Amino acid sequence: MRPEVRTVLHDPSSTFSYVVWDPDTRHAAVIDPALDFDPASGYTGTDTPQKLIDIVEAEALTVDWILETHAHADHISAAPFVRERVGNPPVAIGEGIRTVQERFRSLYNLERGFLPDGSQFDHLFADGETFTVGNIEARAIHTPGHTSDHVTYVIGDAAFVGDSLFMPDAGTARCDFPGGDAATLYRSVHRLFDELPDETRMFILHDYGPNGRERKNETTVGEQRQRNKHVGEGISEAEYAEMRTERDRTLDMPTLIIESVQVNIRAGHFPPAESNGTVYLKMPIDAFPKNH
Ligand SMILES: [Fe+2]
Repeated sequence: MRPEVRTVLHDPSSTFSYVVWDPDTRHAAVIDPALDFDPASGYTGTDTPQKLIDIVEAEALTVDWILETHAHADHISAAPFVRERVGNPPVAIGEGIRTVQERFRSLYNLERGFLPDGSQFDHLFADGETFTVGNIEARAIHTPGHTSDHVTYVIGDAAFVGDSLFMPDAGTARCDFPGGDAATLYRSVHRLFDELPDETRMFILHDYGPNGRERKNETTVGEQRQRNKHVGEGISEAEYAEMRTERDRTLDMPTLIIESVQVNIRAGHFPPAESNGTVYLKMPIDAFPKNH
């Protein structure tokens, strides 16, 4: 029950995407693939997600799943690009995506054909739902707080926690996006601490290299429980919620939040082309919800 794990770093957003596979059957999942995107020019690129496909091909893997931990707000998903090139496996996310779609459909005034029912994805995971990657048992655990739809995927002895936790010395992700909540995040993280053995490998989605250290992406449940500087041992829910809320008030919005959310709630598909054949993204003026 120990999958192989390989990572690809999307440098501009410090996102770690993953290829995870059962070494016996060579069946795999790709988690949180990131697309290259230059907001200054509007050009997309595929150099980074191509590295995931290169791993799949070099290791002769069969991809069973493309898994999104949540509707990301700092990078655009490369799920459609990867899916087409690895045999069209299902793209999945947590069922909480419906609420996120509903929230943003009105903000972006999306076209009538956009339904907030999750149908843009091939599968929506319920909390606790089990699945397999080859012969390895896996399950989805709803871990809201950073976003309301957030899911942690536990595949064998490896947990892919998305933005539920950062490395122990970096703490946790912000909780001030629409649908986010610090106390909820604390409870989600402590549920992981309660349900997963200390030796569980933990793979995180982002690391910005605090205090000049090199960027890292792997820790364990035990290390997080003991040493996570925001939610580790000895820190109460109330203390955390106060600290997180105070800190979030000082943070700027992520560079790509406006662009990425309107693509990621469509499972990484851009909006339909307009009558001239060109695809556009919208910029709501004085309207994007924020806590400060
Ligand atoms: Fe995120």
